[in-house]
Amino acid sequence: MVEDDLVAVLAIEQLSFSTPWKREHFVHELGARHSFPFVALCDGSVVGYVCLMSLFEEAQILDIAVAPALRGLGVARDLLEYATDVARQQGAELLALEVCSTNGAAIALYERNGFVRTGLRQKYYDGRDDAVLMEKNVR
Ligand SMILES: CC(C)(COP(=O)(O)OP(=O)(O)OC[C@H]1O[C@@H](n2cnc3c(N)ncnc32)[C@H](O)[C@@H]1OP(=O)(O)O)[C@@H](O)C(=O)NCCC(=O)NCCS
Repeated sequence: MVEDDLVAVLAIEQLSFSTPWKREHFVHELGARHSFPFVALCDGSVVGYVCLMSLFEEAQILDIAVAPALRGLGVARDLLEYATDVARQQGAELLALEVCSTNGAAIALYERNGFVRTGLRQKYYDGRDDAVLMEKNVR
C-alpha cells in the first residue's frame, strides 16, 4: 500500500465497516516501523487490502477488506496468505486477530485458513457485540 492507494482503500473501508478507519489510520500504517499494509490489485485497481503489524514473535491482522463486488473470489484468502508469509519472515510465531462475533464471513475466512478461537471479549464493539479472539501458529 502506498499513499496513492488511499482513495480506493478508504472507499472500500467505508463500504465494509460501520466504524471505518479514517485516512490518518492508514497514513500511520504506511509510516509505522512494525506495520506492513498491502493492497491486492486487479488490472491495476485496488480491490482489497490487509494491514499487518508484526512485532517480535507476535503479529496481528489489524484490518482486512475486499471491495463488495469482488468478494467470494479468493482475494482475502490471498491477502491473508501473503500477510502470513510476511509475518513469518519478520520472525512471528503467532498471528492473532479480533473479529466481531456477528461477522460470519470473516470468521469462516479465518477458520478456513487455520485460525482457532482463543477467547472472547464481551460487548467489545459499541458495547454490544462480542469480539472473538483468534490466532494461528505460523511457525
Ligand atoms: C471477510 C472478507 C474480507 C472476505 O473477503 P473475500 O475476498 O470475499 O473472501 P475469499 O473469497 O478470499 O474467501 C475465503 C474463504 O472465506 C470464507 N468466506 C468468505 N466470504 C464468506 C461468506 N460470505 N460466507 C461464508 N464464508 C465466507 C470461505 O470459507 C472462503 O473460502 P471458500 O470459498 O474456499 O469456501 C470480506 O467479506 C469483507 O471485506 N468483509 C467486510 C470487511 C470485514 O468484515 N473484514 C474482516 C474484519 S475482522
